[in-house]
Amino acid sequence: MKTILVTGGAGFIGSCYVLMAVKNGFRVINLDKLTYSGNLENLAEIQNDSRHIFVRGDIGNYELVQHLCREYLPDYVVNFAAESHVDRSILDPEAFVRTNVLGTCTLLRAVKEWRDGLDSAGELYKNFRFLHVSTDEVFGALQPGDPAFTEKTAFAPNSPYSASKASSDHFVRAYYETYGFPCLITNSSNNYGPRQFPEKLIPLVTLNALKRKPLPVYGTGENIRDWLHVEDHCEAIHTVLLKGSVGETYCIGGSSERTNIEVVRAICAVLDELRPHADGKYEELITFVKDRLGHDFRYAIDCGKIKTQLGWEPKHTFEEGLAATVKWYLDNEAWTQNVQSGEYRRWLEKNYTGR
Ligand code: NAD
Ligand code: TYD
Repeated sequence: MKTILVTGGAGFIGSCYVLMAVKNGFRVINLDKLTYSGNLENLAEIQNDSRHIFVRGDIGNYELVQHLCREYLPDYVVNFAAESHVDRSILDPEAFVRTNVLGTCTLLRAVKEWRDGLDSAGELYKNFRFLHVSTDEVFGALQPGDPAFTEKTAFAPNSPYSASKASSDHFVRAYYETYGFPCLITNSSNNYGPRQFPEKLIPLVTLNALKRKPLPVYGTGENIRDWLHVEDHCEAIHTVLLKGSVGETYCIGGSSERTNIEVVRAICAVLDELRPHADGKYEELITFVKDRLGHDFRYAIDCGKIKTQLGWEPKHTFEEGLAATVKWYLDNEAWTQNVQSGEYRRWLEKNYTGR
């Protein structure tokens, strides 16, 4: 049985990946600090499965990472751990430097130095891979009609979040170029699906709508994102991990560009269908609010490389995936109640009051 050290595996995308990897017969060592967005309920399905070993800790803890490597001898490391929300990065940029930049650097050094001590003729050393999960936001913003981002697009990050992710990507690349450490990087577009922390657009709008609260749309709502279902993303990551060429970067996207207002209206339409409300249509709750500072206008991904070289294809369409996602939030009331804790309420107040 192969062992994967997954970091950030209690978060939205990481938990989807951990569930998938365990289902596919891998043993997972899950290192997660359990920040506000990390949630062990995301892993409830495998809580009694001996193939999943959860360790609460920080990727920036060199001794802990080395200890886990020595103890469990991972065949692979997949790094999801990060501060992940642009609006939070605008209010507290340094938290993003600490985890996304310094944390990734320490994780890289700890894992590399553990591997350096292995028998270089052995299978573990030779086949080892480190995959770093990143975002398309490192490439900056597009205007309508601009060609989509590819692996060759120059980095031009605009937010503290994307600047910190770009920096971590550079360090991963540097570890390959300098030390020959076997790294891979994935840059994906916006994910959606079950278990996403409701600070992000799709779950935030869904949960606000259910409470008949305003649905905050930044600026004009014309900004464009490319939406990728989290399960398609995790399959792509696993494909790159097993079949990608070391030292390379792979762009992953859903080929589903939508304006934010289209997404919000689509959520409202699904709710009108599944949970009609006597007070009126959900769309009536849409409220345009002050724009995000430095709000990137458009992201779009050309995922031709992963499709042609590795044979990956997304399975979900946006319309079907979105409807199923909204339904998931309706069907999982206990999960949504529990994540809307005091910390979450404080965040809503900080980001939206007086906006
Ligand atoms: P998330 O915020 O839901 O999860 C992040 C997880 O990392 C949490 O479980 C948190 O507890 C953990 N974590 C944070 N700091 C840590 C630290 N110092 N040490 C150990 N664990 C720590 O985020 P997500 O949406 O699941 O994103 C996962 C990764 O995918 C991130 O690297 C993000 O940049 C990237 N990504 C996200 C998207 C998206 O649309 N959500 C798109 C592309 C790439
Ligand atoms: P978000 O889910 O935060 O992801 P990202 O900033 O990484 O793209 O936001 C998606 C889009 O939705 C982005 O253009 C900002 C916009 N948005 C709103 O209009 N209202 C909101 O309350 C939030 C959270 C986001």
